[in-house]
Amino acid sequence: MFEEIKKKIEAIVKEARDEFSSASSSSQLEACRIKYLGKKGLLSEVMAGIGSVPAEDRPAFGILVNALKNSLLETWSSRKPEFFTRPEDASSDAYKGIDATLPGRIVRAGGLHPVSLIQKEVLGIFSKLGFDVVDGREVETEYYNFDALNHPKNHPARNVRDTFFIKNDVLLRTHTSPIQVRVMEKVRPPVRIVAVGKCYRRDASDASHSPVFNQVEGLLVDKGINFSHLKGVLSFFLTRLFGSGRKVRFTPSFFPFTEPSAEAAISCSACGGKGCRICGNGYLEILGCGMVHPNVFNYVKYDSEKYTGFAFGVGLERLAMLKYGVEDIRLFCENDIRFLRQFK
Ligand code: PHE
Repeated sequence: MFEEIKKKIEAIVKEARDEFSSASSSSQLEACRIKYLGKKGLLSEVMAGIGSVPAEDRPAFGILVNALKNSLLETWSSRKPEFFTRPEDASSDAYKGIDATLPGRIVRAGGLHPVSLIQKEVLGIFSKLGFDVVDGREVETEYYNFDALNHPKNHPARNVRDTFFIKNDVLLRTHTSPIQVRVMEKVRPPVRIVAVGKCYRRDASDASHSPVFNQVEGLLVDKGINFSHLKGVLSFFLTRLFGSGRKVRFTPSFFPFTEPSAEAAISCSACGGKGCRICGNGYLEILGCGMVHPNVFNYVKYDSEKYTGFAFGVGLERLAMLKYGVEDIRLFCENDIRFLRQFK
């Protein structure tokens, strides 16, 4: 009985080998695979016969059937690559040298740049507060960048050593504040906008300075706006961005286009505001802000008796450095993939 089965198996192996080796197309090879190795193939048929094998012969039967299976799989897989590299339906030239059985190359998906990530987050917070996102221009006139923002004629920032001039009166904007002026020239209050864009200053680059950086500008003008609105909105923004555990502090500052002006800072995450080697006095300065100067309103023909407003400007790289713990601003423009890969 067992001898019979053995013979049958040997016959199948021989027949299969012949058929597998004479297959001349991938479809013929596939037909062989189905015939012998498929769910209802000959191999399964032989296996199903185990019931009629005497108990003492079953272990030997198992070994035999396994050997049959392995031998068929081996024959099949040794021929398979031939048809992938030379499919009968492709001109052999087109497929020359291509081995379609090689594993595929892993394509890594890209991610957003950390400055784009923070920009999305910042604009998202202000959009939820009802601010419209607007755009500005990088090449500005001296009028919009300085004059209409109440900079006196002899203001040091107008110096060619601080600002990139393209020609007389035309420059690369040094901040996003000219956007305020352009918006107010066009729309009447109430105004509630944020704008983002690149700014340029003739700074030598070091760990915290870059001649090109990104700023977000905000402006809110309406009747009855006062400093507590400014504090409320910016405290909300900063705790949203950095976490509710951080304290926000406002200290007096100076900008020609705001009066009073302030600097907003958040408590250092390392020492919680007590003061340490990282922060010095417990706080990290983040943004400039203030109540729009009446002279700026005069330039855009807003009635400063009727309307008041606040504005702020914040560097995106600075925010990203504080939020992600980046110690050198230059990393943002070096395009080192090892750095960028950390942000997704
Ligand atoms: N434009 C200022 C700067 O670049 C920031 C600022 C914007 C300050 C708006 C007050 C109001 O430093």
